Amino acid sequence: MRFLTACRGEAPDVVPIWFMRQAGRSLPEYRKLREDHDILTLCRTPDLATEVTLQPVRRLGVDAAILFSDIVVPLVGLGIEVEIKPKVGPVIAEPIRSVGDLERLATFEPEADVPFVLETIRLLKGELDVPLIGFAGAPFTLASYLVEGGPSKDHRVAKSFMYAEPEAWQKLMDRLAEMTLVYLRAQIDAGVDAIQLFDSWAGHLSPVDYERYVLPASEAILRGLDGTVPRIHFGVGTAQLLELMAGAGTDVMGIDWRVPLDAARTRLGDDVVLQGNLDPVACLASWDVIEEKADDVLKRLGGTRHIFNLGHGVLPETDPDNLKRLVEYVHEWTP
Ligand code: CP3
Repeated sequence: MRFLTACRGEAPDVVPIWFMRQAGRSLPEYRKLREDHDILTLCRTPDLATEVTLQPVRRLGVDAAILFSDIVVPLVGLGIEVEIKPKVGPVIAEPIRSVGDLERLATFEPEADVPFVLETIRLLKGELDVPLIGFAGAPFTLASYLVEGGPSKDHRVAKSFMYAEPEAWQKLMDRLAEMTLVYLRAQIDAGVDAIQLFDSWAGHLSPVDYERYVLPASEAILRGLDGTVPRIHFGVGTAQLLELMAGAGTDVMGIDWRVPLDAARTRLGDDVVLQGNLDPVACLASWDVIEEKADDVLKRLGGTRHIFNLGHGVLPETDPDNLKRLVEYVHEWTP
């Protein structure tokens, strides 16, 4: 179980590797299933979610599986109606825009609201011979969808709400933190071996705003899981936030491709394991380019306290043969 060995800060036999968004549209076997089922149906049907989770493990030989789901899946438990529009992303019919709207939010109960997620985890535990990563969206990233009502380039509606109504924002963060902690605990009870908290859009915040408006909620989740399974904290474009995000209470810090891993190591010290950080776009290039860039990523940490990944999710256009070759390359690499 080299992935878990690395998460604990111990030395595995070789550098472990998995990919964010390893399940999904880059795989022909996923696209085939998607012809008959929409994505939320895949997420809500344990047999199908299990199959989709296993697809990249079989094909690519990665060292960890990630539960097939989406960060918006638990929002139904809060009474939020959400749809995932192809090539757009999550869309919410009635966004949260006021203190009054917050009263619409119901209490999240995993066994009642997302039984299919817990059942998928139990099924996977019987099938997998690599660790299973559970996950959730962090409060800021979830709030962005809830307040904007859909994907946004600059998160201006969500941030405007944050600035204009700091108390209502605080309440929203608290509710999302409470839900996410309960959700991740339920995933852990069902059997996941590690968890990743995705704060994909936190990079749109300055350190001062992140610390004031967002960090306490993410910290409540991560600290609330202390002593359970390894925790991974990840964001995109978060170079300005790395110390704050790592300080929120995590075992592994996910780094995007903009920050060289040796620079992240110097800034964060030796206590945290680093995950990343090949540019996902590099995987669209020819193998020579991928090899050169993967080698650069590997050399920066010399194979220690490192889990290889991309700096963000696999792009749908990626040739899975490149990913398979990358897994082999990382497994054969020596410092
Ligand atoms: O293999 C895996 O990594 C597990 C599956 C996974 C999905 N979503 C499935 C999915 C994971 C970990 C997520 C997390 C997620 N979802 C995040 C955080 C990670 C990140 O990428 O930053 C975010 C921000 C979302 C919200 C979301 N869902 C977006 C932006 C999109 C893409 C829209 C598009 O079509 O380009 C989705 C849809 C989605 N979630 C797909 C998959 C495989 C593609 C949809 C499809 O099959 O049509």
